[in-house]
Amino acid sequence: MSNDHLIIFDTTLRDGEQSPGASMTRDEKLRIARQLERMRVDVIEAGFPAASNGDFESVQAVANAIRNSTVCGLARALERDIERAGEALAGAASARIHTFIATSPIHMEKKLRMTPEQVIEQAVKAVGWARKFTDNVEFSPEDAGRSDPDFLCRVLEAVIDAGAKTLNIPDTVGYSLPGQFGELIRSLRERIPNSDKAVFSVHCHNDLGLAVANSLSAVLNGARQVECTINGLGERAGNAALEEVVMAVRTRGDVFGCATRIDTTQIVPASRLVSGITGFAVQPNKAIVGANAFAHESGIHQDGVLKHRETYEIMRAEDVGWTANKMVLGKHSGRNAFRSRLKEIGIVMDSEEALNAAFARFKDLADKKHDIFDEDLQSLVSDESAAASQEAYKLVSLRVCSETGEIPHAELVVSVHGEERSASATGSGPVDATFRAIEVLVASQAELQLYSVNSITTGTDAQGEVTVRLAKSGRIVNGQGADTDIVVASAEAYLDALNGLYNKLERAHPQI
Ligand code: KIV
Ligand code: ZN
Repeated sequence: MSNDHLIIFDTTLRDGEQSPGASMTRDEKLRIARQLERMRVDVIEAGFPAASNGDFESVQAVANAIRNSTVCGLARALERDIERAGEALAGAASARIHTFIATSPIHMEKKLRMTPEQVIEQAVKAVGWARKFTDNVEFSPEDAGRSDPDFLCRVLEAVIDAGAKTLNIPDTVGYSLPGQFGELIRSLRERIPNSDKAVFSVHCHNDLGLAVANSLSAVLNGARQVECTINGLGERAGNAALEEVVMAVRTRGDVFGCATRIDTTQIVPASRLVSGITGFAVQPNKAIVGANAFAHESGIHQDGVLKHRETYEIMRAEDVGWTANKMVLGKHSGRNAFRSRLKEIGIVMDSEEALNAAFARFKDLADKKHDIFDEDLQSLVSDESAAASQEAYKLVSLRVCSETGEIPHAELVVSVHGEERSASATGSGPVDATFRAIEVLVASQAELQLYSVNSITTGTDAQGEVTVRLAKSGRIVNGQGADTDIVVASAEAYLDALNGLYNKLERAHPQI
């Protein structure tokens, strides 16, 4: 790999999933992995196979499906963990095993109860075990940000000798400051005699809001892989946000002297997908992917942008995948126009059947909504992938009465394993009445943990995208629905979540 290539290692499916409440089903992980591949991410960390059977199956499914990105599995420096990772990755076109052990005094003494010498020995063994499965081995000294640099040099030199090709330096607890972290990377590269045999990587947490700054400082000091997540998802305050790292390096290529291979137009679709699946809304003022990231409110700014866009814009909204809310298709658009627009926005359907099914949904939507935007198409296609999973419960019809001074009332028909059943209920609002009516039929007794509505585009005829999170017997599932009628979208999201529970697509939460 050339020295001017910055490797983007996405860990949304592993560290991102460690965000409380963000665990994902295997199918959801697959949808995200496909979008990451479309975005040309170099390495996708798909999970931690030894954490649970669910995680093993997810990593295996991603490894079998992805052809153009390397798929990575995490493993503690234990033979059993590494074997599980190796087994899960067996079908990958390109596989990497990422093994780690803590190196800070506090972790070695209090958590591992190991001496520094034992840690070095275990790290070297771990790299050897991983190499039985692949030559592409990454090693992380966990809590490197609080480790003794002299000790880090010893461990890292030993694992390079053992065959590790990537050395990832994690700021596990988000304690480092940019100048100091950059200096650490520079000195490790200079002091470790065999450092030229490995790529230096960084993995920064955002506890002090410095994950991106620390990562970029490391790049300036020679790191050539950044571990990051979509929307900065991740344990506690999250990880470095992929979209911020990628756009900083691209916008300030003059300073960094390296470039990623990311297709940046896929960033906003990836952000929307991750936010929809996890139910973690993106704050409006979030850099790159927030709704206001390219909106100019003040008169002076608007005037400047109209006269010459670069007066106030350092990036173009369309370069990161924001579309100009222009009408792209409508009721009279045909199948070919639909297919070519999908292609233009980077979506290739897996089969003719999938295209036909998505086209039928498009026609239904065009009957309800005059202008169909790219965002509508993206949502429609991700609905289609969701619909491909087996559905026990399906909304057939819904009638809701909501009037000032009256108690809202919902009547619905749901297909339950192919048999149509109806129910009605009242509630404190139309959505509450709808959910209660569904529960009359299903009696899931699941706990509603999250209900969120986002508008996909602007205008009162926009589709509402609803996320519902249900929990039952230790399982947590998210459901999504999108419709111009937000009560219908809510019913669909609730049923989608119930289907997730029914299909027992467990969300094992891999804690390490
Ligand atoms: O934060 C961390 O240290 C990690 C390691 C497993 C790389 O996530
Ligand atoms: Zn981490």
